[in-house]
Amino acid sequence: MLDQTLQHIDDRRRQFEGDLLALLRIPSVSADPAFKGDVRRAAEWLRDHLAKLGLTVHLIETGGHPIVYAESPPVPGAPVALVYGHYDVQPPDPLDEWTSPPFEPEIRDGKVFARGATDDKGQMLTHVKSIESWLATAGQLPLQVKLLIEGEEEVGSEHLGAFLKENAQQLACDCVVISDTSQFAPGVPAITYGLRGIAYFELKLLGPKQDLHSGVFGGGVANPANALAKMLGALVDADGRVTIPGFYDDVVDLTERERTEFAALPFDEEAFKSQLGVEHLAGEKGFSTLERRWARPTLDVNGLTSGYQGAGAKTVLPAKATAKLSCRLVPNQDPHKIAEGLKKRLQELLPPGICMKLVEHHGAPGVVMPLESPYLQAAAVAVEKGFDRRPVFIREGGSIPIVNTFASVLHADVLLLGWGQNDDNPHSPNEKFSLDDFHRGIRASAALWQELAAIKK
Ligand code: BES
Ligand code: ZN
Repeated sequence: MLDQTLQHIDDRRRQFEGDLLALLRIPSVSADPAFKGDVRRAAEWLRDHLAKLGLTVHLIETGGHPIVYAESPPVPGAPVALVYGHYDVQPPDPLDEWTSPPFEPEIRDGKVFARGATDDKGQMLTHVKSIESWLATAGQLPLQVKLLIEGEEEVGSEHLGAFLKENAQQLACDCVVISDTSQFAPGVPAITYGLRGIAYFELKLLGPKQDLHSGVFGGGVANPANALAKMLGALVDADGRVTIPGFYDDVVDLTERERTEFAALPFDEEAFKSQLGVEHLAGEKGFSTLERRWARPTLDVNGLTSGYQGAGAKTVLPAKATAKLSCRLVPNQDPHKIAEGLKKRLQELLPPGICMKLVEHHGAPGVVMPLESPYLQAAAVAVEKGFDRRPVFIREGGSIPIVNTFASVLHADVLLLGWGQNDDNPHSPNEKFSLDDFHRGIRASAALWQELAAIKK
């Protein structure tokens, strides 16, 4: 049966790509209230698309953006898989760095360029298309699949946790399938067994009651921009270690086995540097680049605002300065504890004459999944069927906030099957997704349903 389904996937390749382009044209930017209607439009597009396949589907209202939930009929004796993905995207700025507009998808050299191409519309849609192909060829899926596609992943999944807890019965499943990560390298597919968590903050420093002439007043009053630079600089020491009190207390160290396995991966540091346009890599002393990116906690400034930002020079002593910063966390670190520590450290560093406000945005702990899971092993077989190569097992540095809740509330194994590439530019200008990876992802997903169904309950 699978052969016919795979043939169908090959035959419908252009049509499936057309559907992806249609979804990419909807600017579903969850962070910006100006796009609220478009976010809803993307949810409705998905709802209608899933309904056409014959699935039972609901558009569920939350306090924020809607959730799309669909399911196929139960299959007695077979496990239940829940596909999770997100239809929301990050803001597309800076717009002038895009070769083609972010919401006018363009295909160049076999890749589709658009915001959301890899993160996560293209990857998420592979599962929709594999389901469509099973239904078109076999008439039914070999196991029950539930789909939970949300619109707030890029803003911290604020409403999804409560929805999961309130609907745990309906969402009950044996494994959760997520395609929102990357392959290890072109031609080297990967299954990700660990993700970092996050704690995101906004720091506001306030000085004089309004902007001042920097010549008339400079030297006489504390400058919030100077203070911000100094305080931020003191949060990471010369060895790349974060100076928040207690920051490393709960860190679960990498095992020797993981260190050996990471070191054995075909990671090309020179190629990585040239991909990023840097001559040197940086970070915490004593750890390899992959270790630092995947399994060590960090602190990074994400945005800075203060003073004059226009053309030319304006002599001004700004009244305020703000920074957006995030800590990436590893399993067992508690985002709230990190927030407490950060507040304490910033208070220590705050110079007289400046007031401080620290706003806590989203937070989520990191995760590692057990490698022994039979579902994970079945997934490895399916990935090999789609990509013609056995996947490597990796961790990644990004975060998918709800993953912990899947494990704790649904007690399900989470399978992170990433079809993206490391240079797909998620959250950056010229985001892209290879149409070959889209196609292989659909094939792997189709094989996954068969492999998972063979695990008897
Ligand atoms: N798809 C990413 C997460 C990701 C990317 C994991 C690459 C591993 C490798 C996801 O959509 C994302 O960007 N998440 C945010 C979450 C945050 C806004 C709470 C992130 O990691 O910044
Ligand atoms: Zn993202």
